[in-house]
Amino acid sequence: MESHDAKLLRAQTHIWNHIFSFINSMSLKCVVELGIPDIIHNHGQPISLSNLIASLPIHSSKTHFIPRLMRIMVHSGFFSQLNHTDNDLEVKYALTDASLLLVKSHQMSMAPFLQAQLDPVLTNPWTQVSSWFKNGITTSFEMTHGKSFWEYAGSDPRINILFNDARASDAQLITSWVIEKCKGVFMGLESLVDVGGGTGTMGKAIAESFPQLECIVFDLPHVVSGLQGSDNLKYVGGDMFEAIPPADAILLKWILHAWSDEECVRILKKCKEAISKKGKVGKVIIIDIVMDNEVKDEEYVETQLFFDMLMMVVLNGKERNEKEWVKLFSSAGFNNYDITPVLGIRSLIQIHP
Ligand SMILES: C[S@@+](CC[C@H](N)C(=O)[O-])C[C@H]1O[C@@H](n2cnc3c(N)ncnc32)[C@H](O)[C@@H]1O
Repeated sequence: MESHDAKLLRAQTHIWNHIFSFINSMSLKCVVELGIPDIIHNHGQPISLSNLIASLPIHSSKTHFIPRLMRIMVHSGFFSQLNHTDNDLEVKYALTDASLLLVKSHQMSMAPFLQAQLDPVLTNPWTQVSSWFKNGITTSFEMTHGKSFWEYAGSDPRINILFNDARASDAQLITSWVIEKCKGVFMGLESLVDVGGGTGTMGKAIAESFPQLECIVFDLPHVVSGLQGSDNLKYVGGDMFEAIPPADAILLKWILHAWSDEECVRILKKCKEAISKKGKVGKVIIIDIVMDNEVKDEEYVETQLFFDMLMMVVLNGKERNEKEWVKLFSSAGFNNYDITPVLGIRSLIQIHP
């Protein structure tokens, strides 16, 4: 049995570990901003420390710090270290699955998502959460910046571009999975509206994979203005709380978790109107987290909890378990649902009136 002192030391380490967890995020941000995944990728094979240093845009007085940055990133699984030699400069680093996804030229790169989430505009609200608990302001984001996240994104072009790129990068990744693993979901449909579809990464891929489908990407006017559609894809600007264009199916990818229960019910009611206008009754396809689903991987669970806190601090939204989802569906007049947990920490949910 662990002694009292050993328990105390373990508890102290646990606390330190959590105090310094931000160092994982910030080291990762540094590595991506320095372009280390891109340099290793462009090298075409594992790169020696000396070559890596020679390729980095850093001051000569800082080169000896690079092995320390790489050591923590190797520890957290972002690079692998291939040969342990006495000559430190000959140590070689290779990409792992995770750092490959951070190469900026990768079709599904998560680098824009990282840049957006770790921008001070989004990290500053985290320093004020306890003050936010003590006042009546809707989110810590609003308390920090004086406006809601959506108003902020609409008024600051830098943040608007950063977030549109971040969403597009996630949509790239999830789209290929949805089209490959959930093809049946789109079979038999003649029209689909991707509500809150951003700049259309997912809409475009669906339109290309299912040419018989008339697709609309529907989002706020400042997001879709100036975007060019194609034969079976149109961009429409509007407000999902007002009206949604009619279609056989509505896609809500990563939308509902950003809103309160009352707002979700209003959005779902507008979706119900939109899928009931074409003479037949269609369906709503939701891609979002279902908390406590069967996946019991520790990293999955913790990441779901992180997203739930993110929704609370930035957007007045929340991640929901199955019971909470069902309550929303029935409040909006949807009686049937089907959850398929095949998208990593997220699930594909189909609902019918
Ligand atoms: C988290 S993003 C998801 C984007 C995209 N579905 C994806 O998963 O990549 C939420 C989207 O909802 C859009 N949005 C926010 N409020 C909206 C509204 N009232 N009407 C239509 N779209 C809205 C935002 O502009 C943004 O593109």
